[in-house]
Amino acid sequence: MAERTFESLFIDIADRIATITINRPDKRNALNATVRREVVEALDALRDDAAVRVVVLTGAGDKAFIAGADIGEFAERTPVEQRAAMTGRRLFEEIAEYPKPTIAMINGIALGGGCEVALACDLRIAARSAKFGQPEIRLGIIPGGGGTQRLPRAVGFGRAMRMILTAEVIDAVEAERIGLIEWIVEDAELRERTRQVATTIASWSPLAVELAKTAVRAALEAPLSAGLATERELFVAAFASDDRREGVRAFLEKRPAEFTGR
Ligand code: COA
Repeated sequence: MAERTFESLFIDIADRIATITINRPDKRNALNATVRREVVEALDALRDDAAVRVVVLTGAGDKAFIAGADIGEFAERTPVEQRAAMTGRRLFEEIAEYPKPTIAMINGIALGGGCEVALACDLRIAARSAKFGQPEIRLGIIPGGGGTQRLPRAVGFGRAMRMILTAEVIDAVEAERIGLIEWIVEDAELRERTRQVATTIASWSPLAVELAKTAVRAALEAPLSAGLATERELFVAAFASDDRREGVRAFLEKRPAEFTGR
């Protein structure tokens, strides 16, 4: 990734894992226009960086992952201005459609847009102290970063309705129970556990990982028959790769595979 600095992010790249840290801890990492634009720019830069195989998203400080949209920023907008702010390239869709695997490392409060950013990622690892909610209804609005669509797909219709209509905030244990997150770890272990998961995924064929992601995401969009047809095509694409030859050979030779992404 070309050397550049961001106003509201830190980017760290190590061992093929890029970590994007939203750095507005005083505002509980709320998503303002700068953060949204910079995360999209960072994702663009990391997309083309062959040294990066997994992207981790997190928030600075020990209180919040992301406390949602910046309420102060949208307070005075007209509906026309709000519509303009919600068109064009959007953070949530950029994450959801990203070719490389994404992991939300949820270090604290994930409310509103924060919960929606986590939902847009492929995987969610949360600290035990993390909290989750879609409390937009309190403000007289509704989730607008994909929450009404991705939350029911993740946790089911009734649980999504419960969160969105009651504005309740749930803890990490409940979030794991309902399938909103995949891992719950002690706060002190969050970073290391995330690193382990990311390292595992980074060790696979990046081509196979991208094809697997694409196929699983098709399950959210397509009817079963179309999804199965997509899976078959993507399977054959993986089957045609050098990495498949290497992976199979390495297994038969009882050694770790060296994947190149070709
Ligand atoms: N937008 C803008 N600013 C926010 C924010 C948000 N979503 N969430 C927190 N902040 C700001 C607060 O205004 C405060 O700023 P100040 O110090 O300049 O007054 C600062 O972050 C710290 O917030 P505070 O409420 O004092 O911290 P806390 O740790 O006691 O509580 C929250 C944290 C996240 C529980 C609480 O701030 C909150 O409920 N925020 C709104 C969450 C929300 O409704 N999100 C959905 C938006 S659609």
